[in-house]
Amino acid sequence: MTTEQHVFVSGASGFIGRSLCLELARRGHIVHALCRNITHPFLPQHNNIRFFRGDILEKETLSAAMEGCVQVYHTAALAKMWCKNTDDFYQVNVTGTRHVLEAAVRQNIHRIVYTSTCGVWGPTVKYPMSEDDPRIGGFPIHYERTKYLAELEVRKWVQSGLDVVIVNPSRVYGEGPVTDSNTVSKMVSGYLKGRWRVIPGTGENVANYAFLDDVVQGHLKAMLHGEAGERYILGGEDISFNQFFGALARLSGHKRRLFHVPVPVIKAYSRFEKLKSALTGLPPHFLPEFADRLNADQKYSSTKAITRLGYQITPFAEGLKRTIEHIQNH
Ligand SMILES: NC(=O)c1ccc[n+]([C@@H]2O[C@H](COP(=O)([O-])OP(=O)(O)OC[C@H]3O[C@@H](n4cnc5c(N)ncnc54)[C@H](OP(=O)(O)O)[C@@H]3O)[C@@H](O)[C@H]2O)c1
Repeated sequence: MTTEQHVFVSGASGFIGRSLCLELARRGHIVHALCRNITHPFLPQHNNIRFFRGDILEKETLSAAMEGCVQVYHTAALAKMWCKNTDDFYQVNVTGTRHVLEAAVRQNIHRIVYTSTCGVWGPTVKYPMSEDDPRIGGFPIHYERTKYLAELEVRKWVQSGLDVVIVNPSRVYGEGPVTDSNTVSKMVSGYLKGRWRVIPGTGENVANYAFLDDVVQGHLKAMLHGEAGERYILGGEDISFNQFFGALARLSGHKRRLFHVPVPVIKAYSRFEKLKSALTGLPPHFLPEFADRLNADQKYSSTKAITRLGYQITPFAEGLKRTIEHIQNH
């Protein structure tokens, strides 16, 4: 897709939205980048990117920013572990998504890609989860619950004729700013500085790591080839904590002494952190519902995106090497 089109992106200052704006701009599109703060230090800079101050909770700002656009990428979300008022997760992730879809209808947008998450499936047992698998267990994590509710909202609009494709990235890592949601860069940066010393539990539990560039390309491919109402997992390799820190030591050349901390100890600490937050209003370092997750795998299959969209996966070692270099150079 090389012809110039006006394309709206929400979440332009975010880890994923920023890279997506840059890639669309490089491809010749005029990007209408929605941001809450026009002087945000992470905003992408390119001649084809125009900034629109707005908020997905303020409906009128969305229509103005979408005017003249044919496509919408909705990446903005509260993608973090905690916020003071838990209702904010619902407001931003569910109500905000509804506002984006309403504005898209008003502006006659042809096609929308909605960024969901593999967190809608959450923990996995033996095999990697794929798009048609049901979630096992409840939704103790506000972020995951509200992203799931946002998917239900999207599906309602698809049933009434709106052309929306859903993409579900797994744990995204890569060359981008360290935002709340960029937990992998926080671990890598902490390790390089000698401040990260912990491997949770036995270190054998596995998560799925998706390289940022692949996820951005996956969004563009979903816009081109995705089917309305369908979900596509944008993932990468399944990697355990032991493999992760082994690769980090090998690729960075820094050997650090790390300590396996039993999950019950982490859970006790997280309970204390939760209490501390309740009393002080300060953000916790960790929460019990996330400690529980350390006992489970989070394995996801990208087969559907690979076969139907042409999604490609960068080998983990290559992606991690580029991530380390990016962090060292910034
Ligand atoms: N990073 C991951 O590992 C990962 C994995 C799976 C799925 N995802 C999904 O990918 C999407 C992007 O995540 P990310 O990693 O780029 O998150 P991020 O770095 O935390 O960025 C979130 C973006 O949303 C914006 N935003 C938040 N509330 C807003 C509001 N009320 N109005 C307008 N913009 C608002 C933020 O703007 P401010 O800068 O103004 O706060 C920021 O630009 C999210 O939907 C997330 O659920 C992320």
